[in-house]
Amino acid sequence: MRATGATHISATLFLLTLAFIIPLSYGIHANTCRSYCGNITIDYPFALQYGCGHPGYRDLLFCMNEVLMFHISSGSYRVLEIDYAYQALTLHEPHMSTCDTIVLGGRGNGFAVEPWRSPYLSPIADNVFMLIGCSARSPLFQGFPGKHLPCRNVSGMGCEEYFGCPAWDLLGHRVDSKYGSGPPECCAVSFEAIKAINLTKLECEAYSSAYSLAPLKVDGPGGWSYGIRVKYSVQGNDDFCSGCEATGGTCGYGTDGIRQLCMCGGFNSTSNCDSG
Ligand SMILES: *[C@@H]1O[C@H](CO)[C@@H](O)[C@H](O)[C@H]1NC(C)=O
Ligand SMILES: *[C@@H]1O[C@H](CO)[C@@H](O)[C@H](O)[C@H]1NC(C)=O
Ligand SMILES: *[C@@H]1O[C@H](CO)[C@@H](O)[C@H](O)[C@H]1NC(C)=O
Ligand SMILES: *[C@@H]1O[C@H](CO)[C@@H](O)[C@H](O)[C@H]1NC(C)=O
Repeated sequence: MRATGATHISATLFLLTLAFIIPLSYGIHANTCRSYCGNITIDYPFALQYGCGHPGYRDLLFCMNEVLMFHISSGSYRVLEIDYAYQALTLHEPHMSTCDTIVLGGRGNGFAVEPWRSPYLSPIADNVFMLIGCSARSPLFQGFPGKHLPCRNVSGMGCEEYFGCPAWDLLGHRVDSKYGSGPPECCAVSFEAIKAINLTKLECEAYSSAYSLAPLKVDGPGGWSYGIRVKYSVQGNDDFCSGCEATGGTCGYGTDGIRQLCMCGGFNSTSNCDSG
C-alpha cells in the first residue's frame, strides 16, 4: 500500500512538473532577455543586455561577480532589491551614512539622473535624504523666501531623530547643543524639494538616506531602512510591451536605443509577433 501510495505521489508530481515545464519551455523560445544576477531576477523593463527591456533603462544595470550594480550620472550603487510588484528598487553605496557610520569628506554619490532618464526613475516620496555638514553658502540655505529652510521631516523621518544614532556619538555630537546663527548640522529633504542630491553642488560633507514603506511605521532611527528607494515607471501605458508579450514576444528596442521592438524568435517586429 505504501509503495503504491508513493508511486501515486510520484506520478502526480511528474504530471504537475510537466504541467509547469510545457508552458515554460513554450515561453522560453522568446524570452531570451530575462536573467539573474546573484539571487536577483532581472526582468522587463530592466535587462542586462543592450537591446532587451525598455529603452528608458538601457545601460543602467550591470552584473559584476554576481553583484547587481546600478549606474547613473551621480555614480554606481549596489542594487539590494528589485520589487516588481511595487515598481521600486533599493540601492546602497559605501559612502552613504547610516545609523552606525557617518562617512565625511563629500565622497557620497547622493542621487542624480541624466535628464533624459529622469521621467523613468525617481526616489519615492517617502524617502528622506539627510544632508550633513553643509556649508553656510550651500544653495540649500540660499534664496528660500523668508529664509525658510527646505529642511523638514519626511514621513516621520528627520534630523532630530537621526541625531539619536550611535554614529553621532562617534562624531561627538551633543543632542542638546544649540547651534547659533550657523547652518544646521543636518538638513532633511525630500528628493522632490531639490531634484538632485549632489554633495559637491550643495557643499555638504555627507548624506544619509532612509525610506519608509507605508503603512509600516518604525520607531526610531535604529529601525529605519537605510538606502535609496527608487520608483521606476515606464512612461504612459505600456501597450506596446503588453501587446508584444501577449503574442509570445519579448520586449526590447532597436539599435537607436529609442524605438521599441518586439522580439519574436526568428524575427523582430515593430508591433507584435502576429504582424511581422
Ligand atoms: C539575496 O541574498 C542576500 C544575501 O546574499 C539576502 O540578504 C537577500 O535577502 C536575498 N534576497 C532574496 C530576494 O532572496
Ligand atoms: C532583434 O533585435 C535585437 C535587439 O536590438 C537584436 O539583438 C537582434 O539581433 C535582432 N534580431 C533580428 C533577427 O534582427
Ligand atoms: C554635481 O555638481 C558639480 C558642481 O556643480 C558638477 O560639476 C557635477 O557635474 C554635478 N554632478 C552631477 C552628477 O550632476
Ligand atoms: C521632526 O520630528 C521630530 C520628532 O518627531 C520633532 O521633534 C521635530 O520638531 C520635527 N521637525 C520638523 C521640522 O517638523
